[in-house]
Amino acid sequence: MKDPAASAWSLFTAHFGCAPEVCTSAPGRVNLIGDHVDYCGGCVLPIAIDRRAAVCAGRMTGEIVHVVSRECPDERAAFPVGSTDGPRATRWAAYAAGAAVVLGVPGGLRMAIASDVPIGAGLSSSAALEVAAVLAMETLTGKTLSPLERATTARRVEHEHAGVPCGIMDQYAAMFGEHGHALLIECRDPSHNTVQLPTDAAIVVVDSGVRHSLASDDYGQRRRECESAFGKYARGVGPAPALAAIPLAAVQQSQWARAGWTAIEGRRARHVVSEVGRVHAFAAAISKGDMRSAGKIMSESHRSLRDDFDVSVPPVDALVEWLETQPGVWGARMTGGGFGGCVVSLVSRESAHAVLSRVRDRWPDRLAFMPVAAGGARVEPYDRPA
Ligand code: GLA
Repeated sequence: MKDPAASAWSLFTAHFGCAPEVCTSAPGRVNLIGDHVDYCGGCVLPIAIDRRAAVCAGRMTGEIVHVVSRECPDERAAFPVGSTDGPRATRWAAYAAGAAVVLGVPGGLRMAIASDVPIGAGLSSSAALEVAAVLAMETLTGKTLSPLERATTARRVEHEHAGVPCGIMDQYAAMFGEHGHALLIECRDPSHNTVQLPTDAAIVVVDSGVRHSLASDDYGQRRRECESAFGKYARGVGPAPALAAIPLAAVQQSQWARAGWTAIEGRRARHVVSEVGRVHAFAAAISKGDMRSAGKIMSESHRSLRDDFDVSVPPVDALVEWLETQPGVWGARMTGGGFGGCVVSLVSRESAHAVLSRVRDRWPDRLAFMPVAAGGARVEPYDRPA
């Protein structure tokens, strides 16, 4: 497939008959470990991947925002400046144009989008687009945001224009991604350290084929359950900086009544607190080159997301179990928001191609690939040939 930035550029010039003023791109991500903890003040360990969303944009006179996209050609949209919910504004367009609304781009606007981040597969196609769009709008308005402000502004786009009350992980990874490294993000600040990926390990990502929109309320419901658990804990047991920061001993089942938790709140809290412990243990294991332990921790993470957080689904569980039985696979787990999407596995480099070909033999129609940890958002060369 053509490079997304070159495609967005061609689409822009073909559709609007002039060159864009700016072209930007940002990557999708795969989370190695630490799911459903970012919005609870925990830490996570994603990599930005070598698949990107690109946005080309230019101002125009008038009061209309026009958006065209390579992946969703039917979602051509035109709607008034300052709104992304006009009758013709579609979801994909809203991610991009929401950035224009949030950054207050004056007057009309043209945008062309192209992306090779698989859509709806739990690889943060929307965050990639939002971050690329924020960076493009920043250039058009002459505003200068810090990298962290770019990530939080992109998250605002997701909250206000896509209606998903997400945490910071996806937009942060799309902004700060580093080649060859995972990002150990402390989501409470937020800030990060990089963790070098071992050369003898590969990451294999396989799509379960099950699609689920985070905009359905399951994600929001998990978030509210965690907030409720934290509120009860703070009132009943004592102050804590965040749910993710309470002690592991306090989330054992024998302690749930003391916090006033329902069984659901107790299980949610147990997942969050134990998952944060696993993130640190996993980062330490891969830094030492102890892949067996790292793989075991991934599998424990999956079980916790399945049994305590209730965000896995049987086809994803079956895929995780199948991967875990393959020679050379150290561990596997669901990744991202859940309810479908992709599974991530840690595989010895020498076995990775064989694992991928077994996946492709078994599920020829499914996306399966070996992502490379890539760099974050960037302005693309301005004079790219169409
Ligand atoms: C989605 C959200 C993130 C995070 C993950 C689960 O990807 O956008 O903020 O909560 O789910 O870890």
